[in-house]
Amino acid sequence: MFSIELRSLDETAAFGQLLGENLMPGVIVLLSGNLGSGKTTLTKSICSALGVDTDIVISPTYTLVNIYEGKWPIHHVDLYRLSSPDDLDSFDRDDLICDEGLTIVEWPELLETILTSEPQLQIQLQMLENEKRMLEIQAIHHSFDSLFETLTHYERTRH
Ligand SMILES: Nc1ncnc2c1ncn2[C@@H]1O[C@H](COP(=O)(O)OP(=O)(O)O)[C@@H](O)[C@H]1O
Ligand SMILES: [Mg+2]
Repeated sequence: MFSIELRSLDETAAFGQLLGENLMPGVIVLLSGNLGSGKTTLTKSICSALGVDTDIVISPTYTLVNIYEGKWPIHHVDLYRLSSPDDLDSFDRDDLICDEGLTIVEWPELLETILTSEPQLQIQLQMLENEKRMLEIQAIHHSFDSLFETLTHYERTRH
């Protein structure tokens, strides 16, 4: 587990950038947290690190998934409007999950039923006050040791 207090929008941007630079294709990022906690904002910075114009990174609330072309393809999934896992029946796994690139999922709870052994990072965002956010990351089904070392080093050396 790794946690960091993001003290401003700029710090969220820098942290998202660092994540984007250090994630390998095939990884699924599961983003949990209340409305306004910063899931889409963090997604924009991750995508920016992979060469995607952040203007096109918006919550795919009605379509469930947006696909961006960056260094790798990125599937940006938002399951906020889903009420039951059955609502996913009209999707193939590959519509949602991108094995050749990155998958980033807001409101991931209902997706977790179709995931198995993919390398997953579970990120929890919590609003503290104003621009402050608490971010926690847990690795699931995979070792992310070198990523966690990179993030820990960043946290210790930032100003
Ligand atoms: N440190 C921060 N990190 C992320 N968002 C922040 C931060 N400080 C303020 N905000 C604001 O909080 C809001 C987060 O919205 P958004 O990213 O859409 O949240 P979510 O996708 O979780 O609903 C945005 O208006 C953003 O500008
Ligand atoms: Mg959002």
